[in-house]
Amino acid sequence: MLTAYDAPTAALFDAAGIDTLLVGDSIGNTMLGHATTLPVTLDDMVRAGRAVSSGVQRAFVVVDLPFGSYEAGAEQALASAVRVMKETGASAVKLEGGRRSADQIRAITRAGIPVVGHLGYTPQSENALGGPRVQGRGDDAAEDLSQDALAVQEAGACAVVLEMVPADLTARITEFLAIPTIGIGAGTAADGQVLVWTDMAGMTDWSPRFARRYAELGAALRQAAADFAADVRTGGFPAAEHAFDA
Ligand code: KIV
Ligand code: NA
Repeated sequence: MLTAYDAPTAALFDAAGIDTLLVGDSIGNTMLGHATTLPVTLDDMVRAGRAVSSGVQRAFVVVDLPFGSYEAGAEQALASAVRVMKETGASAVKLEGGRRSADQIRAITRAGIPVVGHLGYTPQSENALGGPRVQGRGDDAAEDLSQDALAVQEAGACAVVLEMVPADLTARITEFLAIPTIGIGAGTAADGQVLVWTDMAGMTDWSPRFARRYAELGAALRQAAADFAADVRTGGFPAAEHAFDA
């Protein structure tokens, strides 16, 4: 699984054989210039979800429900999920939280909409969690996270993302859950892995320790722009073949 936020990137990842594209609310940080995911709106997610779905032929597309679009209860969550499904062409929605979100997951799945859960470090709660920190360390916290994982499954989720969870806890949860786990900063034992694409492709100077940079796209793009500017300033571009005759 990789995140995607627009049609051309989604088409590339789909053609590359990525099974699932996540229209993550990380769009707030990666594309919209916000410091966190909190300002991201349902309108933002619907626009991005529609773009990603339009670029995809075979991948499963999951759209995040943003902060403020499901916390009030099952009714609000269902309305948000229905809007995403009607307006984007995605196949599933994702929301954060375990027992606290079980009613919402149940209501959405009962409407025939697949739901992916999200546990461990959940960025929409970063103010309560004190920033991006490993979750589930120590016996009590591990038990808590395990109960949340069970609650997400019992509520009907089709898969669950585990973010910044100790590797051995990921292994235990993956063992006792019937639904697939998808890890990010959660070790090797998860059934699948997800990365934010801009981390995976090295678009920014900094990327989290749990990500591997499979390319240095940021440096390549900066160089391309610098080369274009230099050519224009020195008359190297455009050349005769870029011009039109009368
Ligand atoms: O928004 C996002 O990109 C996510 C992934 C990190 C799982 O939720
Ligand atoms: Na997210």
